[in-house]
Amino acid sequence: MVEVGVIGAGSWGIALAKLLHTNGNKVTVWSIVEDEIKMLKEKHEHVDKLPGVKLPEDILFTTDLAETVQQKDMLVLAVPSVFTRSTAKSMAPYVTEKQIIVCVAKGIEESTLMTISDVVEQEIPCADVSVMCGPSHAEEVGIGLPTTVVAGAKTKATAERVQDLFMNDVFRVYTSPDMLGMELGGSLKNVIALAAGMADGLGYGDNTKAALITRGITEIARLAVAMGAHVETLCGLTGIGDLIVTCESKHSRNRKAGMLMGQGYTMQQATDEVKMVVEGIYSAKAALMLAKKYHVELPIIEEVNKVLFENKSAKSAVTDLMIREKRPEHTELEWES
Ligand SMILES: NC(=O)c1ccc[n+]([C@@H]2O[C@H](COP(=O)([O-])OP(=O)(O)OC[C@H]3O[C@@H](n4cnc5c(N)ncnc54)[C@H](O)[C@@H]3O)[C@@H](O)[C@H]2O)c1
Repeated sequence: MVEVGVIGAGSWGIALAKLLHTNGNKVTVWSIVEDEIKMLKEKHEHVDKLPGVKLPEDILFTTDLAETVQQKDMLVLAVPSVFTRSTAKSMAPYVTEKQIIVCVAKGIEESTLMTISDVVEQEIPCADVSVMCGPSHAEEVGIGLPTTVVAGAKTKATAERVQDLFMNDVFRVYTSPDMLGMELGGSLKNVIALAAGMADGLGYGDNTKAALITRGITEIARLAVAMGAHVETLCGLTGIGDLIVTCESKHSRNRKAGMLMGQGYTMQQATDEVKMVVEGIYSAKAALMLAKKYHVELPIIEEVNKVLFENKSAKSAVTDLMIREKRPEHTELEWES
């Protein structure tokens, strides 16, 4: 039996804790929120974030970070990306040399433009930091619907340990050495999901959605490749796969926030209504700064930023995308004559 500490008791932390328990591991879950731990201990269910998903009685819930981290074979860091640095800082004194930390949050730190795994490595240099992402909604993993994700690490051995920990007959885990591509795909798709939601809110159709998904992945790949990621990763589960699920799903908070903005809500009104961290809003800003740094064009992401931060209406953003200067779909393809 492997002992695992799950740090963060939101919907994803809880769904993964249940999965890890199903796989025969001893699981301890930490949250900074005392009321949340009290509720989990009493009800064995996260009634706010993952209602209806009953948790086994022998999963331990605690607000004691040392107890969750020390002597664990593996750690899963599942707090939302905005809390990654502060949580990693608090974990650092208890983490031992080469302890594996699996980062499952999606985001780019706005102030440093660092990926989540880079932030964790900076705060906990002794750890063996890996990532896991892909098209995977907690609501579906929580009830055991077939799901596929990717475990990324610097070494094959670590990626395979993460794969072995999580994989079962309804949760298939692939491996990859391209952590950067995985993390950029996972974070930037949230920005495109905001745009997809706006299109839904405006009452646009399947054609518009398909355009946003395909041109969206082109933008994400353009930036990711300029930063050193591999295009294959963006064509895979953590790129186009995660983008499709987020742009289509009723579970996506980014799509939902975008939909409200498409219906005329301001960013603030939309996030108040969603009542959860809408990570795409932070990643949108970060993506624009990265685009400047790496000299790449991200037209959809630029327009999303204008809607979010400059009070531009979603409708004019779509119109401006449609009337951009004419161009070929793939600039790198050669004409016969
Ligand atoms: N929900 C999903 O389906 C899903 C799937 C894949 C990846 N993710 C990623 O996993 C991460 C967590 O997502 P989630 O859906 O569980 O989010 P969530 O909004 O459900 O998580 C909120 C949780 O964060 C914790 N928290 C609150 N304030 C905190 C603080 N100040 N410091 C540390 N922890 C604090 C609490 O446990 C709270 O319940 C995100 O980056 C998300 O993109 C989510």
